[in-house]
Amino acid sequence: MKILVFDTKQEVSEFIANKVIDQVQKKPDTVLGLATGSTPKEAYRYIKNDYKQNNRDYSKVITFNLDEYLGVLKDSINSYRQYMKEALFEGINIPNSQQYFPLKTNMKNYDNLIKEHGGVDLQLLGIGLNGHIAFNEPGSSFQSKTRIIELDESTRKRNSKYFRSIDHVPTQAISMGISTIMKAKEIILAATSEVKADIIKQLVDSNINENLPASILKTHENFTLVLDQEAARDIN
Ligand code: GLP
Repeated sequence: MKILVFDTKQEVSEFIANKVIDQVQKKPDTVLGLATGSTPKEAYRYIKNDYKQNNRDYSKVITFNLDEYLGVLKDSINSYRQYMKEALFEGINIPNSQQYFPLKTNMKNYDNLIKEHGGVDLQLLGIGLNGHIAFNEPGSSFQSKTRIIELDESTRKRNSKYFRSIDHVPTQAISMGISTIMKAKEIILAATSEVKADIIKQLVDSNINENLPASILKTHENFTLVLDQEAARDIN
């Protein structure tokens, strides 16, 4: 595992955006694994600005999102598809037909679909306060594939800020599995702000165990943890 610590969240965002931009320059038909949440939002904004300013081409890029809520309509403001549309897809030229989300209709085939496209070249990840990656909650098997997950109460509570109330937060989601994520050729996990300091310390110190889903990433041969000072506060 490589750990990079930047002074600010802004620098973390620029680093991630530049990784994506460079990757697509190098390989125009790159397969990207994409995350939602507040952490990558600034990076996506940076990618959109760079697209406009520098005439980039994303027309051959294929994207696989990590997860999607169950029971939230596709065009609801709370769906991750809508998040991606607003955060990134509206501002660059990836054709709709090359943007994949895990759904009830394709979940059994999602891992195969990724494989058929040559596998994920660059996977972006965030981390939940309980150590989840995508929606793989603590206790998820390291062998897991894309499937339906019951969301932890703590996850529903944290994500309730995006909904009218906690009662509106779905109880289930569809998520890439941990084995699915681990097949990516390169993985970057970004964590910013003080609220992530505790889980980041746990991640760095812990052994590899299924109660801390992100811990498996430490065995990946091309894994980088990208932090701002605040998230890195408690690590040596
Ligand atoms: C959500 C998502 C994850 C995301 C995580 C952290 O529940 N399913 O993919 O990485 O929580 O979110 P944030 O970046 O808002 O802290």
